[in-house]
Amino acid sequence: MPRAAFVSIGTAVPERVVTNADLVARMDTSDEWIQQRTGVQERHWVVEGEGVADLAERAARRALEKAGWQPSDVEAIVFATIQSDHVFPGDGCYLQGRLGLPGIPAIDIRNACSGFLYGLSVASAWIQTGQYRRVLLVGAEVQSTGLDVSTRGRDIAVIFGDGAGAACLEATDDPGRGVLNVQLHADGRFTRELSGDAPGAVYHPRVSVKQIEDGSIYPHMEGQKVFKHAIVRMPEVVREALAKAGLQTGDIKLLVPHQANLRIAEAVQRSLELRDDQVFNNIQKYGNTTAASIPLCLEEGLTARGVRRGDLVALCSFGAGFTWASALIRW
Ligand code: COA
Repeated sequence: MPRAAFVSIGTAVPERVVTNADLVARMDTSDEWIQQRTGVQERHWVVEGEGVADLAERAARRALEKAGWQPSDVEAIVFATIQSDHVFPGDGCYLQGRLGLPGIPAIDIRNACSGFLYGLSVASAWIQTGQYRRVLLVGAEVQSTGLDVSTRGRDIAVIFGDGAGAACLEATDDPGRGVLNVQLHADGRFTRELSGDAPGAVYHPRVSVKQIEDGSIYPHMEGQKVFKHAIVRMPEVVREALAKAGLQTGDIKLLVPHQANLRIAEAVQRSLELRDDQVFNNIQKYGNTTAASIPLCLEEGLTARGVRRGDLVALCSFGAGFTWASALIRW
């Protein structure tokens, strides 16, 4: 059976940089609090008129260029985002239209911070079964337009950023290369702990003035619960993937944890007893970009940690749902 191999990764973030000092001007917070609790120093936020599909298209075109592919080489698009530009259709179709690829399938994945890995599982399965040989996998997110940037929303607003990452995946028969396995999990008992309530189809109308005023349109996060589950689930799911592949933590050349916040990533590293040179984080510059954070971090991490063909790369995520996932890849 062929495996899915990463041919290239392209990324994009909005040009507008929002520093912690910029947030201090809008809410009761401090650079010290944000850095100490989350590690974030700055993030990129879109400007009016810039959306998920814009970032995704930029990232996708970069990935295609790096792979030496024409858009017409792409046989299917897997698009992970929870922040679609419009209620429907999903951004996968918008991106497909922009790339000029009428007829090819475009599927949207709504698994929040685990979206890129859920998407990788779908793309990898398509490639393994021979349904498609070349798949474009995208994680793209615009969180900033949905945040409460007043003091009321400060626990969440300081964490999140906007961005996109795209990967060109191709079938390979090389036994020393490709996605070894992807582990996926969810626990719907925790849907409320990290969620966006409105607009929603259960409401008539889907959003009311009252919901806008009382803040129901903004994300809700029980930070400490998220923290406690994330630092258990992420190491656990990496170990699960390693056990299935008959590998050890010492075999990992690079671990890229979803950039939820730096303290979570550091706790995951400690739990897996990985050295600093085996892990890469860049939340300091981008904040938590949800489905985009893994490709955004992976692209920089590959260079920073000198990953070569055949090296073992591990990815793991945790986020809304709760969902959590991991992937092991021979680069
Ligand atoms: N600036 C300053 N103070 C803030 C603040 C901010 N941006 N946000 C919250 N606070 C305050 C709280 O109001 C609270 O004040 P109080 O003690 O007077 O009530 C105090 O800081 C402590 O709040 P608490 O929620 O207990 O802090 P914490 O140590 O749990 O840190 C998070 C908050 C959100 C940073 C932390 O829970 C966390 O990292 N959770 C995981 C979040 C995450 O990764 N989400 C993404 C998942 S994919």
